[in-house]
Amino acid sequence: MTVSTAAPATVSGEAGILKAEIGGFTPHMVTLQWTEDDGWTQPLLGPHQNLSVSPASAALHYGQSIIEGLKAHRQSDGSFAVFRPFDHARRFRSSARRLSMPELPEELFVGSLERLVEANREVVPDRPGHSLYLRPFMFASEANVVPRPARAYTVVFISFLMGSYLGEDADAVTAWVCRDFPRAFPGGTGSAKTPGNYAPTMPAQLAAGRAGAQQVVWLDAREGRWVEEMGSANLFFVRGHGADRTVVTPPLSGTFLPGITRDSVIAVAAELGHRVVQEPVAIDQWRADCESGLITETFGCGTAAVVTAVGGVRDGDEEWHVGDGTPGPVTRAVRERLRAHHHGLVPDVHDWRHPVAEGRQG
Ligand SMILES: Cc1ncc(COP(=O)(O)O)c(C=O)c1O
Repeated sequence: MTVSTAAPATVSGEAGILKAEIGGFTPHMVTLQWTEDDGWTQPLLGPHQNLSVSPASAALHYGQSIIEGLKAHRQSDGSFAVFRPFDHARRFRSSARRLSMPELPEELFVGSLERLVEANREVVPDRPGHSLYLRPFMFASEANVVPRPARAYTVVFISFLMGSYLGEDADAVTAWVCRDFPRAFPGGTGSAKTPGNYAPTMPAQLAAGRAGAQQVVWLDAREGRWVEEMGSANLFFVRGHGADRTVVTPPLSGTFLPGITRDSVIAVAAELGHRVVQEPVAIDQWRADCESGLITETFGCGTAAVVTAVGGVRDGDEEWHVGDGTPGPVTRAVRERLRAHHHGLVPDVHDWRHPVAEGRQG
């Protein structure tokens, strides 16, 4: 079977952090509908094709729309396992709640993913290291230009190919600190995965590019002082050396995405014997601790980013390096261990992998 027809996939907001090769969209997609009167339809598998949308569709006018992003990984025996699909299903529900949209039951979310992976498995090379990026999304499809919660929604699951990890050789990225405006604010939608969080970040991405950086670091809205997240990734800092190292990540505040990878990295770093703490990191402290050598590594993590080192930071006229500017030992070890969990190379002690059985297509 040949790989997709459609244009090469890009993931908005992640340019520059995707270290893996990205292929095209896969040939199949799954759709479901919800209406106030009839509730959910069953998932329908069909070809990846254009949608027919009313120009009065509420999503286009008022932004009632949510997304998810997760992966199915090739296992060493050639089969596939979806990584933490029930956690993504729960986050999809929580994003829906925040926007007064219907909550897709977890069994329908995971069942749709199983059908999608099963239908598209042939286009993924039969070698470990390859994965399918799965993109569920829901939008208000009712033709309605009154600003109230819509009464009809469409859910679609599409996917595209991702190549093997570059592993140890992955470069570090340069991050640019956005001081012009915050990404999210207390009481807002920062912890939901909704397109409305991404569009307003585009000017900052362009500014980062002009400053020679690939990623934007977001600070809290109240004080403009606390580091929250970076592009489509959560951030980790390695403080100290050798056995005294501590792995630090900002605590969930409601103003940034509770990353599933963040949660996995907390577990993986502990598996590797590191002390992990969740505590706020001030931007000035990040810089001072890098300059004094106390912070030795910083990395971002997310489904698409996996684990990506930050080698340097630009903040207005200031600029600093993290460690020697290349991925450090903790970053590399966490990435390798996480990769082993993805591809079934270590026991599934956390119950993270959801195997997809062959032959349930149709
Ligand atoms: C804004 C933002 N932060 C963090 C993440 C990382 O989340 P996850 O690890 O669940 O992919 C993502 C990616 O989904 C994101 O879009």
